[in-house]
Amino acid sequence: MATILGIESSCDDTSAAVCIDGEIRSNIIATQAIHQKFGGVVPELASRAHQQHIIPVVEEALDRAKINKNEIDAVAFTRGPGLLGSLLVGTSFAKAFALALNVPLIDVNHMQAHILAHFIDDPKPDFPFLCLTVSGGHTQIVLVKNYFDMEIVGQTNDDAAGEAFDKTAKILNLPYPGGPLIDKYAQLGNPHAYSFPEPQIPGFDFSFSGLKTSILYFIRNNEKENSNFVENNLNDICASVQYRIVSILLNKLQKAADQFGIKNVAIAGGVSANSGLRQMLTDLAERKGWNVFIPQFQYCTDNAGMIAIAGYHKFLNGDFVGQDTAPLARMPF
Ligand code: KG4
Ligand code: ZN
Repeated sequence: MATILGIESSCDDTSAAVCIDGEIRSNIIATQAIHQKFGGVVPELASRAHQQHIIPVVEEALDRAKINKNEIDAVAFTRGPGLLGSLLVGTSFAKAFALALNVPLIDVNHMQAHILAHFIDDPKPDFPFLCLTVSGGHTQIVLVKNYFDMEIVGQTNDDAAGEAFDKTAKILNLPYPGGPLIDKYAQLGNPHAYSFPEPQIPGFDFSFSGLKTSILYFIRNNEKENSNFVENNLNDICASVQYRIVSILLNKLQKAADQFGIKNVAIAGGVSANSGLRQMLTDLAERKGWNVFIPQFQYCTDNAGMIAIAGYHKFLNGDFVGQDTAPLARMPF
């Protein structure tokens, strides 16, 4: 029997989850609306909000899981990558809690945890599998050989896929974070109404900064002729941008799957909540004969459920860290 408390505070979501023997019993997430008016995450405000949220969020996670804090066998926390001030709140809380309860402390890599979210629900992927991890800060194709044996085979040279969504939303005057809104409008539009260029990047790497510039000029030029261009064509613009971002992602994923001869393919991270990505991946998987793994929505964006499940697998390996462990803004696998 193992009961793990997971803590996530890498960016702007404060989250706590309880995992009992590999099953997530609660997953509480407090999002921070304060960043909306600034059009992006303000690190100092994020740290302050984490400090306000962390205790009530942990209390609620324990309540929902119907456990007492004395039943916790280990505390797992996001060590990195992320915003240092945000990570410090979760790390300090986890250390203090583990010390008070006299239980081991487990450090978790946030990007690995996004991938390990696939081990929360059935069907679980067999190793090896390829995972396209797409979030606000990262875009990676990862060859997953085992729970903690992962190799990044491709990544972005500049912006992350989530940033491409969020920056496009900003150009279109939509509030932060724009990804979910682009997704919403895209569902009502024609993905082939406008054509945006696909960058030619070698190997399995990505680039999204050129696309962002081409969208900016496209909007500027059209607005010069018709000041209501965005307003009148929002659905088609969103659908066309989303189509291009998703096709860039899936073309590279397909290339990697072909080269590695892998048929188990997964997506993870905030952008894996995107309906266009989920649909186009499902269609591609059918054509290619892939087994495809798409997480439940609550485990796509930042959450502590994924930290707790990663912590559970580390707990089974006896992989613990000491009280001197510091958070890492950059954290390799
Ligand atoms: O994994 P995540 O919650 O946080 C990071 O670790 O970065 O990812 C957040 C990113 C944001 O860029 C957000 O706009 C994007 O995921 N996102 C979406 C959707 N839901 C979240 N992008 C496109 N479509 C969505 N439905
Ligand atoms: Zn994330």
